[in-house]
Amino acid sequence: MNIKIYPDPILLKSSSEIKNIDKGLIDLINSMVNTMREAEGIGLAAPQVGVLKRVFVCQDFSDESKETFLTMINPKIIDTEGRVESKEGCLSIPGYYDYVYRAEKIQIEALDINGKSKTYLTDGMQSIVFQHEYDHLDGILFPYRMSQIKRDIFMKKINREFK
Ligand code: NI
Repeated sequence: MNIKIYPDPILLKSSSEIKNIDKGLIDLINSMVNTMREAEGIGLAAPQVGVLKRVFVCQDFSDESKETFLTMINPKIIDTEGRVESKEGCLSIPGYYDYVYRAEKIQIEALDINGKSKTYLTDGMQSIVFQHEYDHLDGILFPYRMSQIKRDIFMKKINREFK
């Protein structure tokens, strides 16, 4: 699958809830995992491959071999705590990295590929990646999580680079 690059307008749209976990969805998820691995990313949301559905895949940071991936279908952030600065990049804004603000800890609930509801209570990288990918489902890219001044400078830079 091709990764949509900023300023592709699909990246700024909100995604719809998933009603059925059918073969089409499983195929999409498998393709997303392959695309993310090829791009050496740690997370990928459906809008980034042009599909406006509420699903993302990401690395499972509890597995040190980095071989395991989590599938998050219709995720909901239930609770957040604290605030941290995190240096982020995005496969849809290649080559640009900067600091943004995120919640330190989150509680997030999602369906897995078998339709089973799971709750994750996380901090560190897992929490950051969950929040970054979750934002994609609402059409929010990481510069939105910067301070206003920083965001203006960053957006000018990327608007020059990507047309
Ligand atoms: Ni991203």
